[in-house]
Amino acid sequence: MQTHPPSSLLLTPGPVSLPMSTKRTMLEDHAFGGRSIVKDIAFARRYLVHLANAANLGTAIPLPGSGTYANEAAIQTFVPEGGKLLVHSNGVYGDTLVSICRATGTPHSVLRTSPVSPPSAEQFRQALCSDPGITHVMMVHCETSSGLLNPIDQVGRLCRELHKVFIVDAVATFGALPLDMRRLAYDVLVLSSNKCLEGPPGLAWVVANRGVLGACKGNARSLCLDLWDQNQHVARTSCFRFTPPTHTVSAVAQALRAHDGEGGSAARLERYRRNWRCLVERMRSFGFRTLLPDTIAAPIAAVFREPDDPAYDFDAFYLAMLERGLDIYPGPLAVQRTFRIGCIGTVTEHDMRRAADAVRETLTALGVRAFGAARARPAPVASIVPNRCLVPSHDRAL
Ligand SMILES: Cc1ncc(COP(=O)(O)O)c(C=O)c1O
Repeated sequence: MQTHPPSSLLLTPGPVSLPMSTKRTMLEDHAFGGRSIVKDIAFARRYLVHLANAANLGTAIPLPGSGTYANEAAIQTFVPEGGKLLVHSNGVYGDTLVSICRATGTPHSVLRTSPVSPPSAEQFRQALCSDPGITHVMMVHCETSSGLLNPIDQVGRLCRELHKVFIVDAVATFGALPLDMRRLAYDVLVLSSNKCLEGPPGLAWVVANRGVLGACKGNARSLCLDLWDQNQHVARTSCFRFTPPTHTVSAVAQALRAHDGEGGSAARLERYRRNWRCLVERMRSFGFRTLLPDTIAAPIAAVFREPDDPAYDFDAFYLAMLERGLDIYPGPLAVQRTFRIGCIGTVTEHDMRRAADAVRETLTALGVRAFGAARARPAPVASIVPNRCLVPSHDRAL
């Protein structure tokens, strides 16, 4: 029987390292519509509605796939024929929303703002007032490519005032940052099981205002991504229309029990904040600089400027970290030349110290002498490039 090396610690903003209690759940087989799956789905829906403080207001709709599938489903389901979506983008994940609109032929306009500072409500007001045809607004909560936290509270209030449906991509933040439907005035929230909820990948969710969802019958130009249809079926049967990812569903239910056991979103946020602070302070003590000031950075992943040293090479750095069992985000972004280290998942301050020390030792071994970055290196949003996938040298022959 083939043996595998122990898996690396994932220091990425999702998928994340999972506790053994969650992984163990996936050893059991379940039938489509079997009792335990139906119970798990019903529990997960109730728990997510509770986390969003959406009791008697919202419903949680499961969808197989990753966060992007749920973003596409939300755009398909909520923007009706004759509607128009204003998409905000200040990074890679905002740009993906624009790509979804293009691919699905959804009428839209784009509000692009700086990748290194939050947009203002005034910028949204101008965009909305200059085009009365806009019916819906969508923005990313934490733009994970930069770590920037966008002001969804201000934009939510504005959408309420101007009667626009407000859709938030909270894929990176739900389960840690407070995302109260009543307080933040969003109508639709897209989230993922495999980030701050610390479940495995393969199952995404949309929490939607019931009244807004109720008006969406027949909007979707897709059978599988029709959230209206999925919701009415799940509400009736506590099961999916088509085969659910059964192992993933039961592991996500276990992850949610663990989330509750840890003390819910507030306790998780506190742990992530401690992780982020510990990592950033140690890295700064070695000379590294963060991309963003702390006041606008989310504690999901820390984003550092690359060292301004000719010996620095991201690919060599990434692979050397992997040799040490630490899997950092496998791709630099062109936005001001950065690299990212995730602070979420079953990781602690001990892991953060280990990561920072490994960064210093690895780069020193590669001949990098100066860890600081050059001062100003402005880059327009358009220069942000998607992640690349690196294959470790020992796997390249496969
Ligand atoms: C804010 C945000 N939106 C969307 C996505 C895309 O999620 P997925 O890769 O699971 O489709 C990510 C992934 O990191 C994200 O951080």
